Amino acid sequence: MSYQEEFQASIDNPEKFWADKAQDIDWFKQPQNILSTDEHGIQRWFADGELNTSHLALDYHVDNGRGDQLALIYDSPVTDQKKTFTYLELRDEVARCAGMLKHHGVTKGDRVVIYMPMIPEAAISMLACARLGAIHSVVFGGFAPPELAVRLEDATPKVLLTASCGIEVARVIEYKPLVDEAMRISSHSPETCIVLQRPQADASMLAGRDHDWREGMENAEPADCVPVKGTDLLYILYTSGTTGKPKGVVRENGGHAVAMKYSMNAIYDMKPGEVYWAASDVGWVVGHSYIVYAPLIHGCTTVLYEGKPIMTPDAGAFWRVISEYGVKALFTAPTAFRAIKKEDASGELASQYDLSCLKTIFAAGERLDPPTYDWLRDTYKVPVLDHWWQTETGWAIAANMHGLEPMPPKSGSSTVPVPGFNVQILDDQGNQLKANEQGYISVKLPLPPSCLTSIWGDVERFKEAYLETYSGYFVTGDGGYFDEDGYLFIMGRVDDVINVAGHRLSTGEMEEIVGRHPMVAECAVIGRRDELKGQMPMGFVVLKNVADVDVSLITKELVSMVREEIGAVAAFKEALIVARLPKTRSGKILRKTLRCMVDGDEYTVPSTIEDPAALDEIKALL
Ligand code: COA
Ligand code: AMP
Repeated sequence: MSYQEEFQASIDNPEKFWADKAQDIDWFKQPQNILSTDEHGIQRWFADGELNTSHLALDYHVDNGRGDQLALIYDSPVTDQKKTFTYLELRDEVARCAGMLKHHGVTKGDRVVIYMPMIPEAAISMLACARLGAIHSVVFGGFAPPELAVRLEDATPKVLLTASCGIEVARVIEYKPLVDEAMRISSHSPETCIVLQRPQADASMLAGRDHDWREGMENAEPADCVPVKGTDLLYILYTSGTTGKPKGVVRENGGHAVAMKYSMNAIYDMKPGEVYWAASDVGWVVGHSYIVYAPLIHGCTTVLYEGKPIMTPDAGAFWRVISEYGVKALFTAPTAFRAIKKEDASGELASQYDLSCLKTIFAAGERLDPPTYDWLRDTYKVPVLDHWWQTETGWAIAANMHGLEPMPPKSGSSTVPVPGFNVQILDDQGNQLKANEQGYISVKLPLPPSCLTSIWGDVERFKEAYLETYSGYFVTGDGGYFDEDGYLFIMGRVDDVINVAGHRLSTGEMEEIVGRHPMVAECAVIGRRDELKGQMPMGFVVLKNVADVDVSLITKELVSMVREEIGAVAAFKEALIVARLPKTRSGKILRKTLRCMVDGDEYTVPSTIEDPAALDEIKALL
């Protein structure tokens, strides 16, 4: 079927389309009720189907002749370790881990927080939760204790799984003190904390609460898969919104499994048995979907890489992994390629490896800027496919459907809407815009399977944030346009979310933190363009009127406050002290104008500006 036919079929009759795709996974009980509306008026997929995601990812393959095939390859240049798991081995580890969780009282519907680096135990923990029908919430290791604490309070987990440390290139980051601090400041503490001791750091244990991972695994009885409903939750993944409180995006088992399975073939052109590598982190949505769930559900071999694109040991690291394991498709964030390009512009390091196995490179997480796209395509001579998605959807909204009908890529475009996503560009009033007119990228309901159906514990926030701006549409928070050929161009967020090195962060949250400094009267944080990381946060700060202030000391304090509250990934390193902020007469800070000014882009000074001199003053400081 052509892309156009497939897409049209998904829009004309979504229920039939997804009922057909649902046949590709092994349900315990086939769904009859394909798309239903719940008591909150939210549409949900496969409500009466019964399945288990861990069964689909592991047992199904063991039972169907893939037991001896590699399921997971762990490659860790930072610890100089490599380890492989066949489907049978991974299934047994996961069943044992599920048994360990069961021993600590975890049952269907309970939450388990996972705060782990990129080690196999992170994936094993996720799949073990899925096996019990428990809901995992993975917290990215680069987040500081207050961020972990907020998630503990919101998800109220019964158990927390962690490791003694993570390793950032050569720096050992001890996790346990961070976990202890998070539990100290959080109003909710899990009853049990299970710690994997790594040789690089020895975590101190609190008797009664903390348990050793290895001992627990040795003593555990393997646990079977618990059937769950299609609409039961698989996980909660917190993501940055416009305020300090992150949003707990919820993912349902049924829709997720169906979408994951479909995407592996239709988007990534992968066949069972082939090797797929998403060079991301299990703490982000890309890691959930394409390091753990989709490749395994599809019967592929997945690579879990504990390292960086550069420095571990050099910019040839990705190409080494690809050639060593026969990776067919690589997926990572453009920032990783920009880092490689900086160190190995001529592709010399890559040329030392046999990359004939590599058929495609996929990029997402932030805009794939045309210079990086051109360089990638010219240097590695394989199709480079940008695709656009977000935590909320769990898979691509727009992509080049390589397994369906490859299309000629266009630099700067993530190509076309994925079947199931009725993408439309709307103006302020909700009117549909024509080709080449830029507006708010929205998706006409129903959303396809896998997309969020609520914010954990706050369905009203879900409706307000996503569904109420335009009736009958989901707003993505991104702006962009379709060109005359129907190619979609993503031009960036229209809210206070920024993307720093592929990490999604909230400038609103940073403003809240900076605003808490006793000397700060008000501030604005924007994302300024950055050659390596795509965007970097930058603060404009107005101080209270106090004599004899040490401006450089305050700046340092602001930088360390953001690092301590959010974590090193926030990369907030620049705070400019200004006399006043440019505002409209109604008091709205002109953040967009500030951003254009900092980036050196053209801008028009809004007629509503209160005092144009405020902008001139800042311009003089830059
Ligand atoms: N645990 C603890 N700290 C972490 C961390 C983790 N899991 N991940 C990052 N950090 C720290 C880094 O050490 C760094 O600390 P520093 O300020 O003390 O140096 C800080 O957070 C910023 O990290 P990062 O944004 O990763 O920048 P970097 O300069 O260390 O590396 C790149 C730059 C391009 C190599 C790196 O950003 C990268 O590999 N990006 C790919 C991103 C990605 O995979 N995104 C997922 C979406 S697909
Ligand atoms: P996250 O939820 O962390 O995956 O971040 C999602 C956001 O990243 C999107 O809303 C976009 O702003 C941005 N993003 C992701 N993929 C792309 C892409 N291919 N092109 C442009 N922006 C992207």
